[in-house]
Amino acid sequence: MSWHTNAIFYELYPRAFADGDGDGHGDFAGMRQKLEHLQWLGVDCIWLTPFYPSPLKDDGYDVSSYYGVHPAFGQLEDFKMAVEEIHRRGMKVIIDLVMNHTSDQHPWFKEARRSKDSPMRDFYVWSDTQNRYRDTRIIFLDTETSNWAYDEGSGEYYWHRFYSSQPDLNYDNPAVREEMLNTIRFWLDLGIDGFRIDAIPYLFEREGTNCENLPETHQYLQELRRFVDQHYPGRVLLAEANQWPQDLLPYFGEPGAEEFHLCFHFPVMPRLYMAIAREDRESVVRIMTETPPIPEGTQWATFLRNHDELTLEMVSPEDRKFMWDYYAPESRQRLNLGIRRRLAPLVENDRRKIELLHSLLFTLPGAPVLYYGDEIGMGDNISLPDRNGVRTPMQWSNAENGGFSTARPDALYSPVINDPVFGYTQVNVESQREDAESLLQTIRHMVLTRKNTAVLGLGRLEWLHDLPKETLCFWRKDENGAFLALHNLSARPITFALPEFEPGYEDLLKTGEIVRETIALPAYGYRWLLPR
Ligand code: GLC
Repeated sequence: MSWHTNAIFYELYPRAFADGDGDGHGDFAGMRQKLEHLQWLGVDCIWLTPFYPSPLKDDGYDVSSYYGVHPAFGQLEDFKMAVEEIHRRGMKVIIDLVMNHTSDQHPWFKEARRSKDSPMRDFYVWSDTQNRYRDTRIIFLDTETSNWAYDEGSGEYYWHRFYSSQPDLNYDNPAVREEMLNTIRFWLDLGIDGFRIDAIPYLFEREGTNCENLPETHQYLQELRRFVDQHYPGRVLLAEANQWPQDLLPYFGEPGAEEFHLCFHFPVMPRLYMAIAREDRESVVRIMTETPPIPEGTQWATFLRNHDELTLEMVSPEDRKFMWDYYAPESRQRLNLGIRRRLAPLVENDRRKIELLHSLLFTLPGAPVLYYGDEIGMGDNISLPDRNGVRTPMQWSNAENGGFSTARPDALYSPVINDPVFGYTQVNVESQREDAESLLQTIRHMVLTRKNTAVLGLGRLEWLHDLPKETLCFWRKDENGAFLALHNLSARPITFALPEFEPGYEDLLKTGEIVRETIALPAYGYRWLLPR
């Protein structure tokens, strides 16, 4: 079994994690000093969000050079030392690769926009009208009104799927395809374990389509995977494709035409929150039932929150309205088709719901991806624009700046959360490590227990259907054995009969306790059981 099929991932925002040189920005030197926390937590693989040179108009997802490090994070040498230290601590590291677009400050684009005859013109997608590709949706709905932006200097429009400061690369141009393989080679040569590849459904454009998931895109991704397998066997590729399960399946590819080792399972995420809000398992059961089996050696990557808004793209308009009304009653909590809040505030900091959601994350199929700060229940800062409110400094201790940086507070890239509930004096790593009952200790216990329970890697899912709709109970089964996960999605205690099993079940989280016949789950309670 390859490591990635049963790994715990941790999404780390380098700018927000730890500041080593006291300039108010997180950096590789700071990160290195804090890796012990991740090793202790049981993380197998760190995913680093972009740290490339960038004007930071989309927090680094606007790359102005694929071959370096933004000076705020340090030098390439600091990156290498961080990778070495991650490996020394027995963890792996994948990095974000933003291949769909660059920054408009990338030298390629600066040259391309110089004139229609620029030798780099064809690196991007140009048009003399805005009427091409009309069937393509706009993703950043709150800011952009078109996927075309007019370039005054050269008198044509360029194509962009995200901000207009992020022109899309033209993958019909073989030189672009080759440049991206060079980029991949450069970073894999530095010893990283793979990539999380950003925004992959949008690489190609074709008239008369919605310009997503095109056959040309899949063909290129297969080429890319062949390149990686041939030169760097064992490295992994994780796809960010916010799509329905049936459209995600092709991103795993097929034997002989592989694409990704892992794909984020976007649609299940909002349904976990929906299930708790409605006290009804139906939406989760339905989406998991609609999720097709995936090829051997591949895995879903699952998550509760990430650095973006909690996306509601993969739900019906009615469900989206329900989610907005329930979880984002204030309009400023909404962004594009989503909710710009962190996990703990979403569930009113209700410890029972935070644990319940993590229990679902760790027991349903998929490799869990934690978002930095959620392990201690960090809050958000809704007064910051865009998605910045969920990207505030990591809260390490109750020292000034939450122990994130020694800079003056007004020099930080973002204020530290400092409100009475989620502020760093209340919520921080240090105090939760000292407290055996803390959220951090509980999540770590779940992580370590999951890692010792092999069936949770690839075991097949079997629902317990005969129970009240307020429960979400299922088996995971394979040659490693069986595992029974029980969840109460409601605010009322529920008692029900367990499937018969002699002599009983061992409660995995409360070591040693044996459970028989009936079980009583408190409000939002959960249990992990192993037949004995
Ligand atoms: C992905 C990233 C998001 C970014 C966008 C454009 O969706 O997760 O943060 O803004 O791509 O690169």
